[in-house]
Amino acid sequence: MIKVIIVNGIKIVCLQCFGFIKKSFKLSVTENANKKGDAMGVKALMEKVLPTRLMVGIKNFRQTIHLYKDSFLQACRFNRNYSHIDPKEQVQVETRVMFLTHQIEKGLSHGDFRYGFGKKIFNELPFMLNRMEQIDINFINNTVYRESMAALHEYMARHMDAGQDVSWQKSLFTGEQWEHIINADLQDGGSLIIRQKDKLHNSELSFMMLNEHRHSVREFSDEPVSLNDLEQAIQMSMRTPSVCNRQPTRIHVIRNKQLIKQALNIQGGVNGYPLPPVLILITSDLRAFMTSYERNEGFTDGGLFGMTLLLALESMGLGSCPLNTMFNRKAEKSTRKLLNLPDYEMLVMYIEVGHFKEQVKTCKSTRFNGKTITTVHE
Ligand SMILES: Cc1cc2nc3c(=O)[nH]c(=O)nc-3n(C[C@H](O)[C@H](O)[C@H](O)COP(=O)(O)O)c2cc1C
Repeated sequence: MIKVIIVNGIKIVCLQCFGFIKKSFKLSVTENANKKGDAMGVKALMEKVLPTRLMVGIKNFRQTIHLYKDSFLQACRFNRNYSHIDPKEQVQVETRVMFLTHQIEKGLSHGDFRYGFGKKIFNELPFMLNRMEQIDINFINNTVYRESMAALHEYMARHMDAGQDVSWQKSLFTGEQWEHIINADLQDGGSLIIRQKDKLHNSELSFMMLNEHRHSVREFSDEPVSLNDLEQAIQMSMRTPSVCNRQPTRIHVIRNKQLIKQALNIQGGVNGYPLPPVLILITSDLRAFMTSYERNEGFTDGGLFGMTLLLALESMGLGSCPLNTMFNRKAEKSTRKLLNLPDYEMLVMYIEVGHFKEQVKTCKSTRFNGKTITTVHE
């Protein structure tokens, strides 16, 4: 049976042809080999009989085939499992509740608080909470549900304290949900205050304390960040491990206000916040990879580098916020053009950097318990 996968037209047809050619070659070579009584493998024989340049071409072509095929299968797996609109599985529903709750936490932590924010969130969140209640019998102890209730509590309280009308928002929840919102534990979610004075001795903190108290901040003081400090943080991050120590990560430090503004306009994840003094773009140099199987390694290595950099900045008393580069084609193209990025660099993430304000609010972003994400194989 011939299995036809249509992804990239000509290339997949080639895949079928290549399989056929390989098989035919194998047969004729095997016949030949059997005749001669030679047990040499097909590959070794090919290497012996074909010119080196042709052999190199065949090997590279094989990688190209693998690249398209494996990328397609990867896309299929992603498509089978990601949280589609109207999700059915618990984790998929939790994903959407977390996403919406995070938007509320961001709204609550805005320096320039906007009463009545989140109309779109309120149009989706109650439905997702209902679904969560149906799927998870223990929803009342679910970290995501509790964080949502706490964020909603803070939202309602801030509005009601200021005499703002929340009857529309209230009407969207069931009586039971409203009770949970009213009785939510504020430790579970909402906003959190970060103070500059608490960051003064960061360089002396243990890893545990530094890590525990790092939070993303999205508003910074006007104090410029020196290039020297940034270079020091980048140098500290060079200890980040990478595959075979190939160090594919590349760093773009953007200090030009206009460029930052344009880049963040395309990025879209911090709309409405003041501009940061510095924006760092982490990319990965694809020339550091050798086979199709390594196609995602740049994200892993760049992601590890990003985490080290976040902690390095924090240890130096600098605030930061990672920002995604999950772009559609148009956004990626515009970003590449704006920052003049070479074709061989792939986008990993941005990091906003700045000095801490005297006081700033940020999202609580409550974490799951480590045990709930761990599977022990014995
Ligand atoms: C790869 C990545 C992309 C992110 N993108 C955004 C973004 O676009 N906008 C935003 O406000 N926060 C973004 N964040 C920050 C997360 O919201 C934040 O890290 C998360 O809520 C955990 O909070 P914490 O960093 O304070 O511990 C991103 C974080 C990561 C790691």
